[in-house]
Amino acid sequence: MGSSTSSNLVLMMIMILLSCVLSSSNNVEVEGVEKSVPLKDGLSWQFYAKSCPNLEFIIREQLIKIFKDDIAQAAGLLRLHFHDCFVQGCDGSVLLDGSASGPSEKNAPPNLTLRAKAFKIINDLRAIIHQKCGRVVSCSDITALAARDAVFLSGGPIYAVPLGRRDGLEFATLEVTLANLPPPTSSASAIVDQLATNQKLDPTDVVALSGGHTIGIAHCPSFGDRLYPNQDSTMDQNFAKKLKGVCPKKDTDAFTFQDILTPNIFDNKYYIDLMNRQGLFTSDQDLFTFSKTKEIVKSFAINQWLFFEKFVIAMTKMGQLNVLTGNQGEIRANCSVRNPQKTAFLASVVENGEIMTNF
Ligand code: HEM
Repeated sequence: MGSSTSSNLVLMMIMILLSCVLSSSNNVEVEGVEKSVPLKDGLSWQFYAKSCPNLEFIIREQLIKIFKDDIAQAAGLLRLHFHDCFVQGCDGSVLLDGSASGPSEKNAPPNLTLRAKAFKIINDLRAIIHQKCGRVVSCSDITALAARDAVFLSGGPIYAVPLGRRDGLEFATLEVTLANLPPPTSSASAIVDQLATNQKLDPTDVVALSGGHTIGIAHCPSFGDRLYPNQDSTMDQNFAKKLKGVCPKKDTDAFTFQDILTPNIFDNKYYIDLMNRQGLFTSDQDLFTFSKTKEIVKSFAINQWLFFEKFVIAMTKMGQLNVLTGNQGEIRANCSVRNPQKTAFLASVVENGEIMTNF
């Protein structure tokens, strides 16, 4: 056995061991999603098998290190993928900085609470991957894989991700961004209608995706309307008291965990919170009031496996929304800026010490 093969094996074993230590013991693998969710033309389950065979290994290895120091970053990465996909499709447009033509998608109000560190993690992963494989992997694919590992390494299901997305050339306008990211003040009925129209997602997808709130934090302005001037009557009294302690005013600059039972573990406790009337946003709590979603909430609260299965199906649908493939878009050399115009490109360039090929 060659020394590089054996060192790869040792690395793989360390990674599996670390994965086990970091994630809870009830991790499950959800398979067979391809039977429920058709694959979009141009995407493939083995897209980088030849061009970057260690891609998933590289991402997992880096995220294990990052989450070991700060598991909260997992929530930031999961939300980043959601905000990427819902606006203009999963094309990495949320990663782009603003330009002379105007403020970027990143600057739209719902994106201001995305974590700066999440953007950095994606671009750092991109640098490592492009150094090892050349500029073949898109920022949007890296974001999708990072979100998958964020779920898995927080205790959630492991699942395969279809790959082959290309990065968009433009970011969305403020209007398009606002029209596609529902506010936390929305009713469940409004969200179910909006996601059916804009994203072709069904009520089970909506309830399952909302389960992303089993990890992470939210700031007072996102739920302060449920406390002031009048307390939302559907909210549990003790929970309201606790939240008022964190947020003495509607707009206090403070935050709280979204799932008070197990804040950093990806599990089904979010649905138990909803049944206990301890959901944070109107858009969360109302899922347990609205007739089309209430029974789904209950079914996930009593059956974590069912939640994981439906979550993976919904994530796979979300991850394929309006993707660019083939010759569309580009493979960005830096996730936060568009590549220079193609005419200005040479066959290969060296940027920040990384060897790039022209695509
Ligand atoms: C369905 C409509 C949704 C609404 C209205 C919504 C709204 C929000 C809001 C307001 C925050 C907190 C922002 C802040 O105050 O810092 C948040 C956080 C979060 N959301 Fe959602 N969200 C939705 C769907 C989703 C989906 C589909 C996912 C992923 C599958 C997701 C994952 C997260 C995560 C992980 C956080 C915590 C982020 C962190 O800790 O940095 N959300 N969401």
